[in-house]
Amino acid sequence: MTGTLTPVLTDMWDVDRSWTRSAYEGKGGYAALDKAFSMSPDDVIAAVKDSGLRGRGGAGFPTGMKWSFIPQDNPKPKYLVVNADESEPGTCKDIPLMMGNPHVLVEGVIISSYAIRANKAFIYIRGEVLHVVRRVQAAVEEAYAAGHLGKDIHGSGFDLDVVVHAGAGAYICGEETALLEGLEGRRGQPRLRPPFPAVAGLYASPTVINNVESIASVPSLVANGAEWFASMGTEKSKGFGIFSLSGHVEKPGQYEAPLGITLRELLDLAGGVRAGHDLKFWTPGGSSTPLLTAEHLDVPLDFESVGAAGSMLGTRALQIFDETVCVVRAVLRWTEFYKHESCGKCTPCREGTWWLVQTLTRLEQGQGSEGDLDLLLDQCDNILGRSFCALGDGATSPISSSINYFRDEYLAHLTQGGCPFDPARSTAWA
Ligand code: NAI
Ligand code: SF4
Repeated sequence: MTGTLTPVLTDMWDVDRSWTRSAYEGKGGYAALDKAFSMSPDDVIAAVKDSGLRGRGGAGFPTGMKWSFIPQDNPKPKYLVVNADESEPGTCKDIPLMMGNPHVLVEGVIISSYAIRANKAFIYIRGEVLHVVRRVQAAVEEAYAAGHLGKDIHGSGFDLDVVVHAGAGAYICGEETALLEGLEGRRGQPRLRPPFPAVAGLYASPTVINNVESIASVPSLVANGAEWFASMGTEKSKGFGIFSLSGHVEKPGQYEAPLGITLRELLDLAGGVRAGHDLKFWTPGGSSTPLLTAEHLDVPLDFESVGAAGSMLGTRALQIFDETVCVVRAVLRWTEFYKHESCGKCTPCREGTWWLVQTLTRLEQGQGSEGDLDLLLDQCDNILGRSFCALGDGATSPISSSINYFRDEYLAHLTQGGCPFDPARSTAWA
């Protein structure tokens, strides 16, 4: 970790063996659990609602409201599922959080399960990161040994079992219903919503699915109260979050800060864009969010302001690109990723991402025509809003936004018969 303004989630990361139960308890860990048990489940839900906490996985849906959708008169078991399938290109917050302090996630799982009356919880971790799976599994085992999990936790009468599940490595399994399919042992493809998981989720039972960072925010929120949480951030985007800065910055890493901080302020923490270079474009929340440029350095990074600037806050994965980067090539790489990860269930995304790669490749190699830019936008138009899930929509974001801001750079590929950033091409375009 390289810097923080609101040391809550990242507070432990620099502590010796920060991932152990003894280190966590040494900093007051698992004390929020007793406070939660002294409250009724409905009061815990009310506190989360009052805090204004919104989902940290990217969409920003109010967490307390989602919990309140669980129908308590439904006799089926209730489940909590933690979405730890962090895979959005550039996003690197949940994995460091689970490595640095897995116990804050475990404590959050217990409090959240208590609130929604779930006696079984699952932590679904991206399969490629076996070291993270092992670390969280070890934390769960330590929590069982200390009586934080299992039967009659802390004498409260509340029982909870937690299963750590490793996914099989598909980006689409971060989509909540595809994740549930995977958890049930089927191929990871999204389900039709509604019904939303809160009504019919895992094994057709009421299920809350929350991102790692959302659940890890719960212990401090319960310990310090809703007002404390709401005192940070902006009017409609409360609290704090982890911003991951990558690419052309002096000190890439995770920076915890109140929502509403700007990229300019984050760059100050991160030592700025690499020496001798200028910011060209950046993503506010991974490659599924429309690109922004240097003119957006002072946009507050909250859900509303980033939306008003024409993008989305998303996962706060700030990928920074300086003037040495060809935007067409960067967009082509991301589009190849979406084509590869398309699950194939619906035609607009399955076929459309293939066509996007064909058209972009032609342009990037300087072999297309100006009409290909309109063709690309037309292809995006046939995917956006017509796909079964958000993956197809997200694939169009870097394309349409890059054409909006860098149309001349696309055209330069055509006039120069190839990429103007190619060192072999003598007539460098600027
Ligand atoms: P969404 O806005 O459709 O849903 C957000 C959450 O609210 C879901 O849990 C959904 O079940 C719940 N919800 C929404 N309306 C509801 C209702 N009427 N009743 C009950 N529950 C309701 O967003 P979606 O499609 O789940 O996620 C898209 C987001 O995922 C994007 O904003 C993107 O930033 C993010 N994303 C994150 C990735 C990561 O690695 N963390 C990867 C790719 C995308
Ligand atoms: Fe699958 Fe893409 Fe359709 Fe989503 S949009 S269901 S990933 S084919």
